[in-house]
Amino acid sequence: MTDFGIRILGTGSAAPANIMTNDDFAHIVDTSDEWIISRTGIRSRRIATEETTLSLALDAAHMALDNAGIDPQRISLVICASITAEQMTPALSCYLQRDLGLREDLLAFDLNAACSGFIYSLITAQRLLDPDGVALVVGSETLSSVTDFTDRSTCVLFGDGAGAVVVERAPLPFFWATTVCGDDESLAVRKYIEMDGPAVFRFATDALCKRVQEVVDQVGCSVEEVDRFICHQANERILANAAKQLNVPLERFFMNLADFGNTSAASIPLALDEAIRSKQLERGHSVVLAGFGGGLTSGAIYLEY
Ligand code: ACO
Repeated sequence: MTDFGIRILGTGSAAPANIMTNDDFAHIVDTSDEWIISRTGIRSRRIATEETTLSLALDAAHMALDNAGIDPQRISLVICASITAEQMTPALSCYLQRDLGLREDLLAFDLNAACSGFIYSLITAQRLLDPDGVALVVGSETLSSVTDFTDRSTCVLFGDGAGAVVVERAPLPFFWATTVCGDDESLAVRKYIEMDGPAVFRFATDALCKRVQEVVDQVGCSVEEVDRFICHQANERILANAAKQLNVPLERFFMNLADFGNTSAASIPLALDEAIRSKQLERGHSVVLAGFGGGLTSGAIYLEY
């Protein structure tokens, strides 16, 4: 609960040009288009060839700044959520400062909360923003760099991409809930992504429902009154189960996972940008953003677009 929130001034997204379909995977591991679609809803994903986590972050950030229509010199805070930066340091956010020509007296850092990274970053931005400040919050990943393309149980799930938002402090509702539960058995990225799929599935559905309920309880409204849900795009069945348990029509859950797969910290801002561009999220709509992932972490935010 806070006495001020954020206004989304602009959003942007980027994805590699190269598309990898389910049939492409059927040529490299023992799987099928039918299995992948029925278990996940994913039809294709983008896999970087030339692009990098940084180049995708930059493209998404450029678009968000253009759409926001603000002077980039107003940016006072840059947060980039990622688990797949090309190098440990400098942080992606430092390159964003340099390559976008942003001023130097700003706070810029990267944040790792796996697939909840964008949620944690947006909450952090809201907490840190000065009254006149503007924040650039980015999620960018090339999960293909940590994917074992011989492991059929994980390789079909993930993709590459980026999303970005430009936000300012505003007298609008902003409510959030998060959890952390140290657990490296269900999900971890060492050399490659290692995951106990069924365990993560159960955690994800439960966490999504609980965090959504927690934020709407803070607002004092019912889940049915929320106009749109933009959640981490991991698996259509997780979102369908959550919609059913929360008793809201699945149509209110924006989905683009069929085309992008699971892009970890990029998935929510990438979906947010697509939802806005396709007019499925419009000014005045209430929206819950919700994520879950490695850590194990989960989080949700209620805001008005
Ligand atoms: N193609 C064909 N068969 C497969 C494949 C594949 N790509 N992958 C697994 N299988 C097989 C398994 O080997 C198993 O075979 P067996 O019964 O002979 O042993 C069978 O399919 C069933 O495997 P399960 O893992 O039980 O399948 P399930 O129905 O649970 O679906 C899935 C697997 C899609 C991974 C599911 O568990 C899931 O979505 N979990 C959540 C994963 C997730 O959302 N992660 C992201 C959240 S965190 C983050 O974003 C990093």
